[in-house]
Amino acid sequence: MLQYTLVAVAALAATANAASLADVCTVSNVQAAVPANGTLLGINLIPSTVVASSVYNATAGMGSSGTYSYCNVTISYTHTGKNDTVVLKYAFPSPSSFQNRFYVAGGGGYSLASDATGGLEYGAVGGATDAGYNAFETSYEDAVLYGNGSINWDATHMFAYQALGEMTIVGKAITNAFYGLSSDTKTYTYFEGCSDGGREGMSQVQRWGEEYDGVIAGAPAFRFAQQQVLHVFSSLVEYTQDYYPPPCELAKIVNSTITACDSLDGRTDGVVSRTDLCKLNFNLSSIIGESYYCAAEDGSSSGPGPSKHQAPGGTSSSQPAQNGTVTARGVAVAQAIYDGLHNCRSWELSIPSTGGDLQTGLPDITPFQSSGGKLLHFHGESDPSIPAASSVHYWQSVRSIMYGNLSQDDSISALQDWYQFYLIPGAAHCGTNSLQPGPYPQNNMEIMIDWVENGVQPTRLNATVSSGTYEGETQMLCQWPTRPLWHGNSSTFDCVDDQKSIDSWTYTFPAFKLPGYAMLPIHYTIQGTADAVDHRRH
Ligand SMILES: *[C@@H]1O[C@H](CO)[C@@H](O)[C@H](O)[C@H]1NC(C)=O
Ligand SMILES: *[C@@H]1O[C@H](CO)[C@@H](O)[C@H](O)[C@H]1NC(C)=O
Ligand SMILES: *[C@@H]1O[C@H](CO)[C@@H](O)[C@H](O)[C@H]1NC(C)=O
Ligand SMILES: *[C@@H]1O[C@H](CO)[C@@H](O)[C@H](O)[C@H]1NC(C)=O
Ligand SMILES: *[C@@H]1O[C@H](CO)[C@@H](O)[C@H](O)[C@H]1NC(C)=O
Ligand SMILES: *[C@@H]1O[C@H](CO)[C@@H](O)[C@H](O)[C@H]1NC(C)=O
Ligand SMILES: *[C@@H]1O[C@H](CO)[C@@H](O)[C@H](O)[C@H]1NC(C)=O
Ligand SMILES: *[C@@H]1O[C@H](CO)[C@@H](O)[C@H](O)[C@H]1NC(C)=O
Ligand SMILES: *[C@@H]1O[C@H](CO)[C@@H](O)[C@H](O)[C@H]1NC(C)=O
Ligand SMILES: *[C@@H]1O[C@H](CO)[C@@H](O)[C@H](O)[C@H]1NC(C)=O
Ligand SMILES: *[C@@H]1O[C@H](CO)[C@@H](O)[C@H](O)[C@H]1NC(C)=O
Repeated sequence: MLQYTLVAVAALAATANAASLADVCTVSNVQAAVPANGTLLGINLIPSTVVASSVYNATAGMGSSGTYSYCNVTISYTHTGKNDTVVLKYAFPSPSSFQNRFYVAGGGGYSLASDATGGLEYGAVGGATDAGYNAFETSYEDAVLYGNGSINWDATHMFAYQALGEMTIVGKAITNAFYGLSSDTKTYTYFEGCSDGGREGMSQVQRWGEEYDGVIAGAPAFRFAQQQVLHVFSSLVEYTQDYYPPPCELAKIVNSTITACDSLDGRTDGVVSRTDLCKLNFNLSSIIGESYYCAAEDGSSSGPGPSKHQAPGGTSSSQPAQNGTVTARGVAVAQAIYDGLHNCRSWELSIPSTGGDLQTGLPDITPFQSSGGKLLHFHGESDPSIPAASSVHYWQSVRSIMYGNLSQDDSISALQDWYQFYLIPGAAHCGTNSLQPGPYPQNNMEIMIDWVENGVQPTRLNATVSSGTYEGETQMLCQWPTRPLWHGNSSTFDCVDDQKSIDSWTYTFPAFKLPGYAMLPIHYTIQGTADAVDHRRH
């Protein structure tokens, strides 16, 4: 019997390798691969909804080059006991290109990803879900309110974590059968996303940890309840201080901050690689009286916020010429924004709306860790939308909850075996910063695949400078909690331990009793003021 099984499996494997895309990309092959009702708890797949068609030589995925041939599949399911319909899309690479991988791309803003082809360049099956609220075409913000005073909790849970987890479970189950592999063949499963995509990655680590082998999460938009408050914080500062600085004055303050703090990290390269040293050593009052000038501007731009929330006609950035000197009041506004929101007197844990389900701050991720998962977490140090300190805080929460009985050094080293966090010097929100020509990671998936499949554990993160004097320079970034310190103006730096730096990033949030649910943007940083002003003007 065993012999027979082995022979059969070998025959199937041989078939899979020899099979062409056209051979496997049929409705009947997909239907035969669909798990029976009762196999996946709560998920009833509907085989009659399967559509499958071969797509040849198509461009695929964001930022990937080359062309790919794949099987374009859609299938729907319903939740047991509910009369809902969730539509899934998958892109199965040609059998000859398949490398036993499954890839999930994160979305952004209030949207889940709608494209399933992002994994093709890695020989991975990819998937996307409509989350039961037509998420391919609408965003969660259009689904969250029924319009009768009630919140759509089904859509909320689906957007928060459930839809992606179910899409992955179903996709992995179909994958092996689709290629004729035995059901216990390992499918390396990856997630990659930034912003809400980063939050989605963290949601999968926290809720479906056993399903993923490698998760890359950039600038996660976790702690939604506070996150959205942050987007109006700078306007609130201007309102409470009753001073609305001319945009040029704030731009000047930002530029002067960068100029003053650039060299504190040891190298004068236009990049503040150590916002902690800036915070500890630079006195903003020193620039009062400096003159500024901005030429008249006629144009339009869209800030980082969702544009539909801006006032009608509000995207114009037309400005008259501005000429003046930095005022004490302008500095006071900027200082309050740099200082960030504080845990003031009377806060309580009261998150009445959807924020609670989207907090994504669970610090005990043991199921992910113990099933061998690897987490690569990064955050632009000058992110003007989602504070880098909120990522630092999450890392600290995981460390203290999972390794609270170890010494600091031992806990850091235990954590780094499977969860690594990197601040990206000077970087903005999920990308480079037009004001600081710094490095940005380019090949995270390669690094992750090597870590997961070949056991090559990174110690630093490969990043490339994409503009300015040092364009093309490779920087192997320091893993938190070490911080970079350049050797003068040369092209080398050390990763140093600096307790004062770590302390400057560390905060408590006593209104929230649970570690990991807190946030406070102490390092709500350097690009911040300029963009924050945009929000007021919009
Ligand atoms: C599973 O349940 C769904 C919903 O009840 C049904 O449409 C579908 O046909 C069932 N699948 C099978 C294989 O019977
Ligand atoms: C896809 O591209 C390959 C190589 O360029 C070519 O041989 C093949 O005919 C193309 N297939 C289709 C369906 O266009
Ligand atoms: C994939 O299939 C769906 C229908 O199931 C179709 O709407 C879509 O256009 C197809 N995509 C491509 C690239 O052919
Ligand atoms: C389920 O939903 C469909 C439409 O989506 C509707 O036609 C049908 O009546 C519903 N069934 C029940 C039992 O509510
Ligand atoms: C609001 O609409 C939803 C969806 O139609 C419905 O399920 C819910 O019961 C309604 N709530 C109230 C308070 O009417
Ligand atoms: C700030 O610096 C940028 C270049 O990095 C420059 O384009 C801009 O004019 C400066 N703004 C002010 C007000 O100095
Ligand atoms: C910053 O400089 C101002 C003006 O010289 C001074 O009043 C203030 O105390 C300084 N702040 C700090 C934190 O040193
Ligand atoms: C700014 O204003 C001052 C005096 O008000 C003037 O001397 C200077 O030329 C102006 N600078 C520019 C660039 O317009
Ligand atoms: C810390 O606690 C963990 C889990 O409870 C345990 O496995 C580990 O041995 C403990 N380490 C020390 C140094 O006590
Ligand atoms: C760093 O990334 C660049 C860009 O993807 C790549 O060319 C280079 O080989 C990578 N270096 C290392 C050491 O991974
Ligand atoms: C680095 O170069 C800048 C000019 O670009 C200079 O002002 C600074 O003194 C240099 N720093 C060191 C440590 O040599």
